[in-house]
Amino acid sequence: MAILITGGAGYIGSHTVMSLLENQYEVVVLDNLVNASPIALERVERLTGCKITFYPNDIQDREQLRSIFAQHDISAVIHFAGLKSVSESVAKPLEYYQNNVAGTLILLDEMRAAGVHDFIFSSSATVYGAPESTPLRETSRTGGTTNPYGTSKLMVEQILLDFAKACPDFAITILRYFNPVGAHESGLIGEDPNGIPNNLMPYISQVASGKLQRLSIFGDDYPTPDGTGVRDYVHVMDLAEGHLKALQHIRQFPGVSIYNLGTGVGYSVLQMLKAFEKVSGRPVPYQIVPRREGDIAECWADVEQASKHLGWKARRGLDEMMRDAWNWQEKNPLGFQS
Ligand code: NAD
Ligand code: WQD
Repeated sequence: MAILITGGAGYIGSHTVMSLLENQYEVVVLDNLVNASPIALERVERLTGCKITFYPNDIQDREQLRSIFAQHDISAVIHFAGLKSVSESVAKPLEYYQNNVAGTLILLDEMRAAGVHDFIFSSSATVYGAPESTPLRETSRTGGTTNPYGTSKLMVEQILLDFAKACPDFAITILRYFNPVGAHESGLIGEDPNGIPNNLMPYISQVASGKLQRLSIFGDDYPTPDGTGVRDYVHVMDLAEGHLKALQHIRQFPGVSIYNLGTGVGYSVLQMLKAFEKVSGRPVPYQIVPRREGDIAECWADVEQASKHLGWKARRGLDEMMRDAWNWQEKNPLGFQS
């Protein structure tokens, strides 16, 4: 039996492939490489000593999906494949809905045709929009997303709820990630954004390495302890292990189960910056600039459900997140092209 991992060459996908291989799962990866490098998978093979069956194709290619389901004994699908840039989604809404929503429909349809019924979906804390209160529980109100990327995640969640009612054989786990950061401790795989990073952690790393001049902090007048935005940052290897747990428990819960994957603790931008400086020993120059449109003041997870039903808790703290982010950056100043 094998697990099909769509988007498995990407940031969270490659770390999850790593975790699954280390736990004796056989994996098949499908990734069109629109935002990933095949080197990530070569490095996972090197680290684990396992061979990965890789298809460099699009999830919207039905013929390819059919052929994968026919050739391999797939027991479950972990669906990472998707476009994830908030700003790009505002400029290219059709591409985002086509890829993230229509692509998922095709995948589900082909899973149904092939009789593969276990599905884990990468969702995001973004589905909560601007929180009414924190911590965010899985039952907290969703909606109020401010960009097509976030809306595409919410739409897929709704589709999955409807689909599971019509197809009771399916077991569907929706994982809502908070803010993934860090890298595998080897420093061989990590986050390799195209161009100038949108997200805080890769931006900080690139300032520390001298690639970027200084961090712009988007607002210091939020109603938070130091005025900068607060988020629930979670180590990518903890996230990867969350998928392993979800896979192990999926058959216990038919229908749709939803879990937050975070640490349950929020840190501000300034706390992140200071923690990074302490661990890396590098200064990170910064300036305060106006708030970024669409940003919220603070957000962190209630992680009780994942702990109770999946037996999962994030184990790595802020220092490990910083250490591993910096280790990856130092070893790969140009990402996978280094
Ligand atoms: P990523 O861009 O590194 O990984 C996504 C992968 O999917 C890439 O390797 C890309 O090449 C591939 N892909 C995209 N469209 C495809 C298609 N049509 N067919 C085949 N492959 C395709 O992003 P990531 O950070 O690893 O995120 C993985 C998933 O988790 C995404 O669905 C993302 O929306 C979601 N997510 C990410 C974050 C985050 O902050 N990184 C937070 C919450 C949710
Ligand atoms: C974190 C904090 C910024 C960059 C985004 C998506 C979300 C999810 C994760 C996929 C905020 C501040 C950032 C910078 C800054 N992705 N910041 N200067 O916005 O919480 O979430 O990524 O699902 O959907 O919206 O993450 O890393 O961009 O920002 O001051 O250069 O850092 O204002 O407070 P965010 P982020």
